[in-house]
Amino acid sequence: MSVKERITIIEGDITKLDVDAIVNAANNSLLGGGGVDGAIHRAAGPKLLDECIKLNGCDTGDAKITGGYNLPARHVIHTVGPIWHGGNHGEPEKLASCYRKSMEVAVANGVQTIAFPAISTGVYRYPKKEAAQIAINQVVECLNEMPSIKKVTFVLFGLENYDIYTTILSELK
Ligand code: AR6
Repeated sequence: MSVKERITIIEGDITKLDVDAIVNAANNSLLGGGGVDGAIHRAAGPKLLDECIKLNGCDTGDAKITGGYNLPARHVIHTVGPIWHGGNHGEPEKLASCYRKSMEVAVANGVQTIAFPAISTGVYRYPKKEAAQIAINQVVECLNEMPSIKKVTFVLFGLENYDIYTTILSELK
């Protein structure tokens, strides 16, 4: 299968996905928050927070794995995206690192199917098109290096991000 065939884009709620791991757009504390983070903690139940407390937080651009508890997904990979401060504060590198580190943690834990939200494009205000370009570039690069990952699903909340992702993917060779 080509790299492009291993990527799927859907519009919807990532907490509903039955995959080996869903990725959470968390904050440095890993103790929960709003947006997709809040939705994941609500759907997983309180045992997720108990495990997150033991992780002692996470640096921006890094990723850590937990169980999925009441979620259909077996694991949650928590990553922390950059807050957008105009783009000259290392935001692109940090966002790319979120995708790469999440994929590395996935491989190290036998995850074959993984789903990503549009990290940093909500509360953290990263411009959607720029963020989508980084997400897709980085995932394509990783899939080339990581044959054990069978499928990456981008789960977009709302049609604006869905359209941006489908356009970028369709332009990919
Ligand atoms: N499924 C998929 N995508 C979702 C869902 C969902 N259930 N809910 C929201 N999104 P955000 P960030 C989309 O704000 O920008 C939290 O408080 C949303 O529309 O969740 O990385 C954390 O604790 C947007 O496109 O994450 C941090 O403090 C994308 O997910 C902070 O927000 C990311 O939006 C992280 O901010």
